[in-house]
Amino acid sequence: MKDASPLTNESTGSAVPAVRRASPPGATAPPRLLAAVAAVVLAVSACSSGGGPGPDNEDGPERPTGPADELTAVDPAEVPGVEERTDGEDDGDVAVDVAYPAVPGADPLTERLGEITAAEVSDFTGANPGAKRISVDWGLSAAAEDVVAVRLVQREEDSEGERTGYATYWYDTGSGHTAYATELIADQAGLADLNGLVRERLADTEGVDPDALQPVLRVYDSMGFNPDGDLVVEFDAGQVAPVKEGRVSAVVPRADAEPLLSEFGVRARDAATVVERGFAVASPAAAAPKDGPAEGVPGLLPERDPDLDCTAPDSKCLALTFDDGPGERTPELLDALAEHDAKATFFVTGGPVREHPETVRRTYAEGHELGNHTVEHPDLARLGKGAIREELDTVDDLVRRETGADMSLMRPPYGSTDDQVEEVAADLGHAQIIWSVDTNDWKDRKAGVVVDRVVDGAEPGAIILMHDIHGSTVDAVPRMLEKLDEKGYTMVTVSQLLGDTEPGRAYYDAPPERPEDAEDGGGDQGD
Ligand code: NI
Repeated sequence: MKDASPLTNESTGSAVPAVRRASPPGATAPPRLLAAVAAVVLAVSACSSGGGPGPDNEDGPERPTGPADELTAVDPAEVPGVEERTDGEDDGDVAVDVAYPAVPGADPLTERLGEITAAEVSDFTGANPGAKRISVDWGLSAAAEDVVAVRLVQREEDSEGERTGYATYWYDTGSGHTAYATELIADQAGLADLNGLVRERLADTEGVDPDALQPVLRVYDSMGFNPDGDLVVEFDAGQVAPVKEGRVSAVVPRADAEPLLSEFGVRARDAATVVERGFAVASPAAAAPKDGPAEGVPGLLPERDPDLDCTAPDSKCLALTFDDGPGERTPELLDALAEHDAKATFFVTGGPVREHPETVRRTYAEGHELGNHTVEHPDLARLGKGAIREELDTVDDLVRRETGADMSLMRPPYGSTDDQVEEVAADLGHAQIIWSVDTNDWKDRKAGVVVDRVVDGAEPGAIILMHDIHGSTVDAVPRMLEKLDEKGYTMVTVSQLLGDTEPGRAYYDAPPERPEDAEDGGGDQGD
């Protein structure tokens, strides 16, 4: 047996000595390099014998087969005792048909899949008043070593028609953690690099909008590996190309993906590229870890920069806020903010989010904050609690379905709020953000006037109200940023400016001198 394996006996194998001859004379390859070389040789030989079991890999692990642009699939028959959980309880007028697996010894995964599918049903029905039907089906993409991967296929039908979406969850049987697909990638910078590679690979693909490809959780929620260990990224119908183009996928070669993977991502790839007959979880984790992954989830972006302290005495932070969008020209505004390394907060409304989902994703990906500004922009103080909740819930659901993010801020239209609005906002986990400077940019559509009002009103701790749906405001932003830069201001998100906020409470500004006093000031008109 040991004679047949070039990996356990360097002197008799054919491939490893060839590699050694390529080393400079006298050089001694460190053991880690040899191990890496051996791994590559193994992968190549598994590849080249692809059609069927060849003499080379009889003693090696069995490899999965399947198309190059699909995630590997594991036959559930190879996982003894796997069961199916279902949920068929209709949600209002929406027909629901949900199924997911219960793998023996992986209870935290089963529990998490139950939560995830319930949230998907709730977000779909909440985001879409024309929702008719949703079903979730499952497959296994890996079940080997200490990794289980579950791929969910979600079919939705609403007044616009039918769409199919995909999400893949990666379970670490040792820790009990169910990872998002983005956790296969080391960090946000890696996800951004991956997004660049995917854009290149999809540049000539029919209908793909490169602006829709953004390094955010929801866009990269289904990733896995093909039998060769190349990284496969798949996008929902309608997510990055028109619905009629169906599922869109990109294959990033193993070698290009390798430096982007997290330590868990490497283990996941190794598990996805072997077949383990009769898989069983070796040492079951009793519960999911309380804290998430130590380094955060790539694709979920922090609203704050931990290295920036707006409470420091010499800091001059202020928050620029833009309501009612995104608009047609919001991308230009984002360009200007990026040029000045400035952050802002965007209070978005329902229709524009549906119309410009790619801008919502980009805004989030570039480190700006998203806040809830209701679906229909009503005066919330005139509505009952149920209606207030629906106005806010729907936008929460819409934004989560585009980015994966949970928002923690809302702005009542016209700054109009009362006890009921406060109660619902508190319930939904949103602080109410009013403003301290109203530019009235919706009334006076002159860029110069908007610049002057912002610059005149600027002071440390200010929250400045503008609207990115007006061209004059977009035109004003580059000069406004230049002037604020000259005056030494740091333009930050509202959450950066205020620090931890209390759900329900109304904030008007954050004057550094009196951080506890945010109940006065503010506007009761405009917006
Ligand atoms: Ni508004």
